[in-house]
Amino acid sequence: MPRSVPSSARSVVRSAAVRSAVVRVCALGLLLPLAACGGSGDGGTGGGDDVGAAGVGDPYFPKAGNGGYDVHHYALDLAYDPDGTDDPDGTGRPGGADGPVLSGSARLTARATRDLAAFHLDLDGMTVRRVTVDGRAASFSREGQELIVRPAARLVSGRTFEVTVAYAGRPKTLTDPDGSKEGWLRTADGAVALGEPTGSMTWFPGGHHPSDKAACDLTVTVPEGLTAVSNGELRARRTSGGRTTFVWHTAEPMATYLATLAVGRFTVTRSTTPDGLPVHVAADPTQAAASRSALARLPEVMAWAADRFGPYPFSSTGAIVERPGDSAYALETQNRPVFPGAPTPDLLVHELAHQWFGDSVTPRTWRDMWLNEGFATYAEWLWTEDEGGPTAEETFQELYAYGEDTYEDLWAFPPADPPGADDISADPVYQRGAMVLHRIRRTVGDKAFLDLVRGWTAAHRHANASTGDFTAYVERQAPDQDFGPLWRDWLYGEGKPDRP
Ligand code: TRP
Ligand code: ZN
Repeated sequence: MPRSVPSSARSVVRSAAVRSAVVRVCALGLLLPLAACGGSGDGGTGGGDDVGAAGVGDPYFPKAGNGGYDVHHYALDLAYDPDGTDDPDGTGRPGGADGPVLSGSARLTARATRDLAAFHLDLDGMTVRRVTVDGRAASFSREGQELIVRPAARLVSGRTFEVTVAYAGRPKTLTDPDGSKEGWLRTADGAVALGEPTGSMTWFPGGHHPSDKAACDLTVTVPEGLTAVSNGELRARRTSGGRTTFVWHTAEPMATYLATLAVGRFTVTRSTTPDGLPVHVAADPTQAAASRSALARLPEVMAWAADRFGPYPFSSTGAIVERPGDSAYALETQNRPVFPGAPTPDLLVHELAHQWFGDSVTPRTWRDMWLNEGFATYAEWLWTEDEGGPTAEETFQELYAYGEDTYEDLWAFPPADPPGADDISADPVYQRGAMVLHRIRRTVGDKAFLDLVRGWTAAHRHANASTGDFTAYVERQAPDQDFGPLWRDWLYGEGKPDRP
């Protein structure tokens, strides 16, 4: 990737291969018309039984999320034992040298969207000990990443129910389609959970698709001396018997890929922004000094972003800084992005911009990823422009000057239609996505553009949005313009568009 252009947050770890064929497979692996997959995932698994679907029909991750219900709240009560002396599998052999053990329970409050004799949860790995639905034991089975629950009594459509899963084990690290690592990552002095796109299913059962956002309360117990940092606000912290319990509260809806839990030794700094927003920063002690100057700018970046993008959608902010080797990339975990080492100002801007674009306005499916990464990348361009660096127009022109021979990856596919799951983190999603936004800005003018952006974050605050929602919204805001060619050539068209 060309040096002088702001780099994609993740392009360094992305696999070079671009899949040529688009395969859209339904939850059951059957080749049904897409509509049959059901955006709301209401398809049964056949046999005339009321079984919620194994997935919600995501084009790239067909088993992500589950049909037949919406999760409203997660209550996770976990203990992390780095020495692995727990015995998760009940074999009489504690973890020991096999590694740390995570154990506890997840209680989900959900609403049935159809009658359910059985339903799925996503959970990859871990040993499930017991499942209850509304307090009564439920039978369950495992099939790959699906935990299938059959309550003692059928759930009637519209009804709110509680499912509790007691589980334990050594959470997995997953390798993404693009080759990078996610899920539960062991760090130098603990662990960190990174969930984009599907890694959160390694450490708690749930509806692990961005379309099912929910509030979350996480209680986590770790050995005294270690710190547990998560999303939202720290409600309580108590130590007894050599263990410390941290209670984290996330009131605003959160897509599960944005959930994090970092356990380790941290230097914690708490403050408030001039607007009174709590700031909670946790830095690995080896990174604390190097992070100080970048993180000192966090309140300034927050104020800048709120001015450009609209009111900050969450109740607290901050950051988690791990060691560079602990993760290969940063992630916009809600309230509190994770950084692999001290962030640069650009990366800080990128991850904080995601709080608006991705965390509050969340993609409907993983195909809409450019709405996250295009906006976060464009935020970097705007910041650079406002800091007196190259203007966004200059950045755009510099990128546009590359041809299909000099920067092949940039023009490999259209941002709104990545050919495969391994492409959702590729350059067109980031850079060409930002170029689309810049073309809109040029079409409507600077002031109207920022009004449009603020209107967009307001219209879909704490909700989901698709590319179609976005183009329809832009057209409504600027009815005098013809955006047809822009969508056709820049958003959906193959190859380098003819007109800059
Ligand atoms: N969203 C991250 C960022 O912009 C990058 C990333 C991490 C990512 N995991 C991903 C992008 C999975 C696509 C898919 O900083
Ligand atoms: Zn990003």
